[in-house]
Amino acid sequence: MYEEMVGDRPAGGFSHPTDQEEKQMKNFTFHNPVKLVFGKGTIAELGNLVPKGARVLMTYGGGTIKKIGVYDQVKAALAGVDWMEFGGIEPNPQYDTLMRGVELARKNNRDFLLAVGGGSVLDGAKFMAAAIPFKGPNAWDIMEGKAPIEIALPVGCVLTLPATGSEMNRYAVVSRHDTGQKTVINHEKLLPVFSILDPQTTYSLPPRQVSNGIVDTWMHVVEQYLTYPLDTPLQDRQAEAILQTLLEEAPKVLKNPHDYNVRANLMWCATMAFNGLLNCGGISDWTSHRVGHELTALYGIDHGQSLAVLFPAVLRHQKADKMDKLIQYGRRVFGIQGTPEKTAELAIEKTAEFFRSIGMKTKLSEYGIPPADYPKIADKLQLRGKLGERQNIGVKEVMEILALTEA
Ligand code: NZQ
Ligand code: ZN
Repeated sequence: MYEEMVGDRPAGGFSHPTDQEEKQMKNFTFHNPVKLVFGKGTIAELGNLVPKGARVLMTYGGGTIKKIGVYDQVKAALAGVDWMEFGGIEPNPQYDTLMRGVELARKNNRDFLLAVGGGSVLDGAKFMAAAIPFKGPNAWDIMEGKAPIEIALPVGCVLTLPATGSEMNRYAVVSRHDTGQKTVINHEKLLPVFSILDPQTTYSLPPRQVSNGIVDTWMHVVEQYLTYPLDTPLQDRQAEAILQTLLEEAPKVLKNPHDYNVRANLMWCATMAFNGLLNCGGISDWTSHRVGHELTALYGIDHGQSLAVLFPAVLRHQKADKMDKLIQYGRRVFGIQGTPEKTAELAIEKTAEFFRSIGMKTKLSEYGIPPADYPKIADKLQLRGKLGERQNIGVKEVMEILALTEA
């Protein structure tokens, strides 16, 4: 999914490199200017971070920020700033809702967006930032890449849910009820200018969202890591460090939701998993994300839930192609010792076991999705090319992967 948008490989037009080239670090450009402000009480710094004279539209979700005191902190920090608000952005933010925010911003001449909430609120603000100055008749063209982003309003963020990495990346995911689409956009003008991360704001997360966030973070790491080996030892170890940290912190957070250190570690892991760093010079396989978005669009299951179901099945299906990296993952992340074949198998089992240990389901049938639905899911992908680091996963393979979720 994400690589198609980045354009680092032509969708459907993969040329097979030689063995020697295949192992080389790819060329890359890394540019991430987001100012990250992290720690206790940092929302108070908002007043200094919002540009002087800005006319701010503060956006938020279903109202959690009012219950947990974040709204009041933001309000206090914005004293003296010209600001107004737009609430009601739903999880998996909807295009029609966001367009109402766009109208409000245009009517009131807003020139700065402040997103306060989880990934959905942040992504919603990023889309609005591009849509507000857009002159064309159909702002959805921005999401489909038919209207290139020329200007976008600046966006600042106060994050309350560690998961997506949206606070420090160039992506936004927007959904449409009417067409059943869930679409990703990727543009450097969508990088936030600043993001405030106070781990204390995450104390109130229900276990379901905590686990969704851990799985989403895990998946952003592994989909940029578990491919075929390149000579990128630093990037590999950066990835493994995040995975090992998640393994250590996950059981602690579910036991002690108010442990500041654990919350801080999880929040930093989520940001570092998907801010462009891990993918420097590397290759990726976004199959679970790509298919997962269709599961969310079709059945409304959470983003993290969709990934926990799909990933073990992707590994089962791709075991032979991913063998070398699976063995490395098994040994270094889970500490498995054994024959290569056994290590790879056990690594897949341990992954599913970890997801289940934090309360995630790993079978489609557990969400009431029957095998009869598999063709509908696979067809909905409308693949322009194939998925996977070797571009060998098409509709037929996706159907096989869906069946393997029950293994
Ligand atoms: O709506 P409110 O009231 O704010 O409640 C939210 C929402 O119901 C609640 N919540 C947020 N912070 C909370 C809290 N509840 C208690 N205490 C807090 N501190 O959690 C619920 C889910 O929020 P949401 O923002 O939807 O979750 P998440 O951060 O997981 O974002 C999911 C969206 O991000 C997209 C997903 O596809 C999905 O649309 N993604 C965005 C990415 C990106 N921009 O890079 C990458 C990801 O792969 C992902 O696709
Ligand atoms: Zn994700």
